[in-house]
Amino acid sequence: MDKLRVGVLISGRGSNLEALLNACSFSNFPAKIALVISNNATAKGLLLAEKFGIPHLVIDHLAFTERSNFDAKLDSVLQAAKIELVCLAGFMRLLTKNFVLTWKGRLLNIHPSLLPSFKGTNTHRQALDAGVKIHGCTVHFVTPELDSGPIIAQAAIRISCTDNENDIATRVLKIEHQLYPSALLMLATGRVKLDNDRVIIDNDIATNEILF
Ligand code: GRF
Repeated sequence: MDKLRVGVLISGRGSNLEALLNACSFSNFPAKIALVISNNATAKGLLLAEKFGIPHLVIDHLAFTERSNFDAKLDSVLQAAKIELVCLAGFMRLLTKNFVLTWKGRLLNIHPSLLPSFKGTNTHRQALDAGVKIHGCTVHFVTPELDSGPIIAQAAIRISCTDNENDIATRVLKIEHQLYPSALLMLATGRVKLDNDRVIIDNDIATNEILF
């Protein structure tokens, strides 16, 4: 069977890109990373794409006066590469409504909180300030409103008021690296369906309680 062609958009470190590249390197994994695009020429993630032999390019947003022109360029490059699914992985640009709607149901993001809590930035600080005991990360479809799209998968860690932001960031990142490939696997095997604004997952059995 043909593998799902995935494009990954990055801006920096690329550790989630690396997790996706590692998963896709298994011959029986049903998706392949066909293109990596960075808006930042110095993104470390570009070196990972190079190491894995994946086509990659920089589209510098600073070269565009209008956000819509940058997004149109992204779109045309993704279409030309026959990309079927786009994964945002630390991509630090807001995308226009037009782009998001063009890729509706085919555009994923990973966010370092248990959405719908703690949207935006500084999510670990937000979690500590709120005093939550369970924190984590979310893979979701992207919609025009920031960090608000239908939730596909989540993973959690326990946190306490004595934790610091850096330690939490490290622990959340570790589970992000497991969650994003597993969400991609569900997508690529056709288990994820969008029903209006909710995600329905085939054969999703969630019966066990998690008590911390
Ligand atoms: C991750 O924490 C991800 O959840 C957020 O941006 C960060 C990207 O890290 N969207 P990396 O570039 O994948 O290492």
